[in-house]
Amino acid sequence: MSITYTTYKTEDDLIPAIALIERDLSEPYSIYTYRYFVHQWPDLCILAHRGDECAGVVICKLEPHRRRGVDTHFPDDKPTLSRGYIGMVAVGKAFRKQGIGSTLVLRALEAMRERGANEVILEAETENAGALALYEALGFVRDKRLYRYYLGGTDAFRLKMWL
Ligand SMILES: CC(C)(COP(=O)(O)OP(=O)(O)OC[C@H]1O[C@@H](n2cnc3c(N)ncnc32)[C@H](O)[C@@H]1OP(=O)(O)O)[C@@H](O)C(=O)NCCC(=O)NCCS
Repeated sequence: MSITYTTYKTEDDLIPAIALIERDLSEPYSIYTYRYFVHQWPDLCILAHRGDECAGVVICKLEPHRRRGVDTHFPDDKPTLSRGYIGMVAVGKAFRKQGIGSTLVLRALEAMRERGANEVILEAETENAGALALYEALGFVRDKRLYRYYLGGTDAFRLKMWL
């Protein structure tokens, strides 16, 4: 059976997606955090299904971002950017290594590009080799290291892609 990709429609989409995310991510999020994302940017919440089963999800947002200082070499550069943020990504264990995670992220990037995003950022645990490999294969680069970023005390890399 093939995988279908859809954007967020109702809260019925959210419950199985949260179950997937919570299974693997160390950071606990409240339902209000999920709602903050999916109610404001439903088109940036993309779900993968095989039949009725939720196989994967990516949840993102897109907001104006004020640049720090203006580059005198490029005085025409706009002081405000449109910055996408990938908040959560998860693929069910039985569905991994089939390209679903990459497809979800690529679709989210495309949707952000269509909405005028200039750049996209996210954080990933420095020990999360699978996620880092996925993002770097798509063209993200390590922008900075965030020390003791997670509640458990582990570090994160801030990854960034310019669109
Ligand atoms: C990270 C995750 C989303 C990857 O999903 P996936 O559907 O298996 O990813 P893909 O099949 O699209 O993999 C694409 C590429 O990513 C890399 N990759 C994915 N999983 C990997 C792993 N466990 N180890 C090393 N590289 C990995 C590979 O380069 C892979 O390409 P390849 O299959 O040609 O080698 C999935 O493992 C997951 O849900 N993990 C738990 C949640 C999580 O860590 N989310 C990210 C938080 S920042």
